[in-house]
Formats: sequence, C-alpha cells, structure tokens
Amino acid sequence: MTHSVINVAVGAAKAAGEMMRRQFDKVGSIPFQHKARHDYVSEVDRACEAEIVREIRRYFPDHAFLCEESGESGEGDIVWVIDPLDGTSNYLHGLPHFGVSIAQQVKGRTEHAVVYDPMRDELFTASRGNGAVLNNRRIRVSNRNDLDGAILATAFPFRQRSKLPRYGRVFQAVFEQVEDFRRAGTACLDLTWVAAGRLDGFFEIGLHPWDVCAGALIVREAGGVVMDFDGNDDVENAGTLIAAPYRVMTPLRQLIHSRWKQPDRTG
Ligand code: IPD
Repeated sequence: MTHSVINVAVGAAKAAGEMMRRQFDKVGSIPFQHKARHDYVSEVDRACEAEIVREIRRYFPDHAFLCEESGESGEGDIVWVIDPLDGTSNYLHGLPHFGVSIAQQVKGRTEHAVVYDPMRDELFTASRGNGAVLNNRRIRVSNRNDLDGAILATAFPFRQRSKLPRYGRVFQAVFEQVEDFRRAGTACLDLTWVAAGRLDGFFEIGLHPWDVCAGALIVREAGGVVMDFDGNDDVENAGTLIAAPYRVMTPLRQLIHSRWKQPDRTG
C-alpha cells in the first residue's frame, strides 16, 4: 500500500514536471496573474495542479485535497497537500530552479512525500519511518556540528515586508556565525537540499502548508530536525520554519528565537 501511494504521487509529480519542462522555453510569454503584490500564478501552475489532482483521483477518488491554487476540496482523514509549481517566480523569470511538492497526510500527519526537480530530474521521496531517498539512493543531512562553516538557505519576507526589520535582525545574527547564505527561491528544494546534505540548514517566515509538508517529512526521514521558531514540531501551519541537522539546529534555533522575539515597534 505504502508503495502504491508513493508510486501514484511520483507519477503525478513527473507528469507535472514534464509539462513544466515543455513550457519552459516559452518563458516570457506564459500568461500569469497576480495573486497579490509580488505573488504570481501562471497558466502552468494551474495546468500542472489539475494534472496532479486528476492523476491522484484516478487511484484515490475519495481522498481530499489542499492545493496551492484551487484550495481545499473533498473531505476525510486523508488529504493530499500539493504545490504544483513551487518557485513560480523563478519559473516566470526563466530561472531553472523550481519543483513539484506532493504530500499525503493522514489525520493531519504527513505519511508520504514527493518533491520533484524537473530541470535536474531529481526525485526526492520519503514515507514515514522508511528514510529518505533521492533517485533510489538513501540521503542523509550533513554531519556538520555547529554554525561555523555552515552554508544555510533562507528566503526574504517578500510578502510580509513589514517584517523585514525583524527578519533582518535574525539574518544578521545568523550571518555573523556561518560561512554564507543562499536564497534560491524554491522552498521545497531548500528543504530537500538540507535533506541531501547540500545545505546545512534553512529558515524562512511566511510559508504555507503546501510549501512545507513534503519537504519537512523528507528532512526528518533524512535524519534532520524541522521546527518553528518557538521549537514546535507542527511546522505545517506555523508560518515560521527552521530545518537543519540536530547539532546545527540547537545553536541556530536559539539564535533565531532570541532575535525574533526581541521587542521592537516594527511588526
Ligand atoms: C514560494 C517559494 C519561495 C518561498 C515562498 C514560497 P510559490 O512558493 O517556495 O522560495 O520563499 O515563501 O511561497 O509561491 O512559488 O509556490
């Protein structure tokens, strides 16, 4: 059963990835709308989401969905949480770094996860308790012991610019301790790259469940820790997230938490 859930999710993710690859050379002429300032949805996001949902419904017609573009549909304990094109802004700018993120939750807990990077043909999968895999090879978080020498990913609060001073305080404190930062623009790949040990950690504010569900399970199954800035495990709905190997998480979360909670008047 486990196997077939993952297989269905992989089939759906690959079908969507193929659509993205085919349209990628039309970048510049792909129609898109603003969902909000600096936040876009393109025809490709919508078409991929419809394809993923159609593919999953062929096998599981009774399951419910929470999708980035179409929202909630159906009812029940089993919910598929889907970001069809994570990194829409990269896609629309012709930056070849975006992904498909599909998770299956049962009674609110993520059981299966697939993240697909169509431009690199990298497929990350995990089922709870069974480890994390990249293209059939087991992956593990990096074995870094602390912040010294770490390369972290982050994202700027482009939707919540009033939080920039607060975020800036966090960023500065962490930047002083690590080797460097990357801001690549696709949360599901930031997470899976932590899982694969390519990055030593990642933090962001303002994420949605569809950005996080699949990647968080993959990090945990690769031996990493995922928490919100307060140290809670329920990151899917928290709005803040840190992912890192355990020994990096301890100093990183302390630093982030102390600067994030520091009182100021800027929001
Ligand atoms: C966004 C990307 C981006 C992150 C945003 C996400 P979308 O997803 O993952 O890296 O900083 O928070 O919402 O909107 O392109 O699916």
